[in-house]
Amino acid sequence: AIEGDRVLREPICCILGHVDAGKTKLLDCIRHTNVQKGEAGGITQQIGATYVPVEYIMERAKPHEGVVIKVPGLLVIDTPGHESFSNMRSRGMSLCDIAVVVVDIMHGLEKQTVESLALLKDRNVRFIVVLNKVDRLCGWKHCPDAPIKKALENQSGDVKKEFQWRLTKVVTQLKENGFNTALYYDNQKFRKVFDIVPTSAISGEGIPDLLLMLVLRSQATMMEKLTFVNTVECTVLEVNDDKDLGTTIDVVLINGVLHKGDQVNVCTKQGPVATIIRDLLTPHPLKELRVKGIYKHHKELKAAQGVKIVARGLKYAIPGTSLIVVKPGDDLGQSEAKSQRN
Ligand code: GTP
Ligand code: NA
Ligand code: MG
Repeated sequence: AIEGDRVLREPICCILGHVDAGKTKLLDCIRHTNVQKGEAGGITQQIGATYVPVEYIMERAKPHEGVVIKVPGLLVIDTPGHESFSNMRSRGMSLCDIAVVVVDIMHGLEKQTVESLALLKDRNVRFIVVLNKVDRLCGWKHCPDAPIKKALENQSGDVKKEFQWRLTKVVTQLKENGFNTALYYDNQKFRKVFDIVPTSAISGEGIPDLLLMLVLRSQATMMEKLTFVNTVECTVLEVNDDKDLGTTIDVVLINGVLHKGDQVNVCTKQGPVATIIRDLLTPHPLKELRVKGIYKHHKELKAAQGVKIVARGLKYAIPGTSLIVVKPGDDLGQSEAKSQRN
């Protein structure tokens, strides 16, 4: 996407929240996948990444005429909510541009919700609160994939009342944690007041709203951060043993371009390792990187992307560390020439 003389990359969005709030299910609803069903005990134990193209966002979100989408898509990072995985939540948070904090409307704020909120505040990360599982309100009438305002208008007086008091409760809890929040369509001061988007990950109400708000809030508040630069910024998410590919690392390419054949330095438990990228793989758009599937092979990849890197010497790579591209003997002039060729 080009905006004036800027080229924008995809905002990286990290999904956080207490165990079973519905983070993975929400992504399944966006992707039309069934990743959550395949998880052991229904618990996420790995950090994941999914590419959501802008065309797909337009199709699902159906923005009003005149709404301009400037980013080329979203890269969404799923994290585990179980308390023992705070390292992965922290990793997700440290590489994201914007976060989504998923709250189960029937439970309100829970332990890991509060933990995530504190970290987001610490790191000054913008976020959207998703108030999930609205379909569990007593007597909810399903309105599959409807915008939430429309879905709420369709409910009985009792459902509307229950929604209102549960919403008020969550708004109060958020306030107690130091955040002013409002339903996103009532929010006139989004630079100071955080948005709440009610959703159902089962029937899809509010999903169009969430996709659109992620895009609009990102591009309204972080153009500088989302400007593509040709300097590689890349974080290791996971190390995987693949019976076909050998040891691979899943990384998030935050900025810059990676090429097959690039020499890279990776931090490992045995010290820094210099290696060559043998293959650059991505899942197809709307597929989860952490789920083994059919990969696309690339000669080069431009940020932002979730990438599986095949190379030697990755066995002891340390998740959370940066991958650095080394260009031996490459002066600035040459690297500029190279970036123009690409
Ligand atoms: P962890 O990754 O383990 O932290 O959990 P999670 O936040 O990813 O939640 P997950 O997607 O595993 O969903 C937990 C349970 O809640 C599953 O049984 C889902 O089917 C259910 N669930 C998620 N979203 C909704 C929703 O909107 N409505 C209803 N009724 N159930 C939901
Ligand atoms: Na779960
Ligand atoms: Mg999950």
